[in-house]
Amino acid sequence: MSDLAVLESDALARLGSASSLDQLRDAHGDLLGKRSPLNDVRKTLGALAPEDRKKLGQELNDLRSRLDAAFAAREEELLAAERAERVADERLDLTEVKGRRRRGSLHLVTQTRDRLEDTFVAMGFTVAEGPEVETDWHNFEALNIPPAHPARSGFDTLYVKFGEPESTLVRPHTSPVQIRLMLEQPPPIYAVMPGRCYRKDTPEPRKVPNFSQIEGLVVDRGITFGNLAGTIEAFTSAYFGPNIHSRLRPGSFPFTEPSAEYEVTCAICEGRGCRTCSSTGWIELGGCGMVHPNVFRAVDIDPEEWSGFAFGFGIDRLAQMRHAIPDMRVLFDNDIRVTGQF
Ligand code: DAH
Repeated sequence: MSDLAVLESDALARLGSASSLDQLRDAHGDLLGKRSPLNDVRKTLGALAPEDRKKLGQELNDLRSRLDAAFAAREEELLAAERAERVADERLDLTEVKGRRRRGSLHLVTQTRDRLEDTFVAMGFTVAEGPEVETDWHNFEALNIPPAHPARSGFDTLYVKFGEPESTLVRPHTSPVQIRLMLEQPPPIYAVMPGRCYRKDTPEPRKVPNFSQIEGLVVDRGITFGNLAGTIEAFTSAYFGPNIHSRLRPGSFPFTEPSAEYEVTCAICEGRGCRTCSSTGWIELGGCGMVHPNVFRAVDIDPEEWSGFAFGFGIDRLAQMRHAIPDMRVLFDNDIRVTGQF
């Protein structure tokens, strides 16, 4: 009996100290298997008197179940530890990219939009927004583009199935926000309106079908083309710094008269001519002009009393020129080697 007590305490110590499942299983074999001391004792049962045999047999069975229970308890502990280790091992660290720990950042287009807002706010403008899904009236008619006007085809508009056919669209420019703003508040107005636009276009080095624009609108008494040119020049040097030059060229938009195209020196070739600027040395960033009297009439503003200028610039192109990115499409491939640089 006392031998059994020693055997039990040794066996419990060995099971309890097994530090891996393999070790535990080895211990189980050694302690309870065919060649175990316990089995040796069991083999002596046959030679005992019936009374003693029964007693010792019972004793051995009880011992065996206690050791089995100790084995199961230790096995449970080791399995839990192994699971915890595997979970820790296989944990996906989403803050780590290719072994380099780095923080995420806003997309370059978002950063550019923020920077543009800051630039214009510093010049005294407020910031407004309008919906991406627009009515034909806000997007075209109120902007002096009546049905069947040839300018409509230039917008490659995507229509939305809602209401009358071609009455609802995803806006191809941010100019309808001018209309909403003038309907909402009386002049004077000094505002910029950034946002996403959509056109049925094939992606090209300086064009994507889902782009962003920032619209500008000034309405006050006595506003002239000189104010427009001065504002654009001030904006260009505030946003690009001294190394990029801009120019206004005669242009044509139904909602402005006179109209101009806003261009900057191509940042990729510094004006020498390259694939990105189609060898012209200049990149068109948007249009501008003096608000057409018909636009004022559409929103019940008296064109005899008020005058104003407007502009609409492509945010993606502004970003492309500021960072000298030869092909705009790389900004939307979401290759982290590109987007991670900003
Ligand atoms: N909406 C024009 C476009 O997307 C750009 C534009 C031109 C906006 C002249 C203006 C403007 O506000 O005055 O092509």
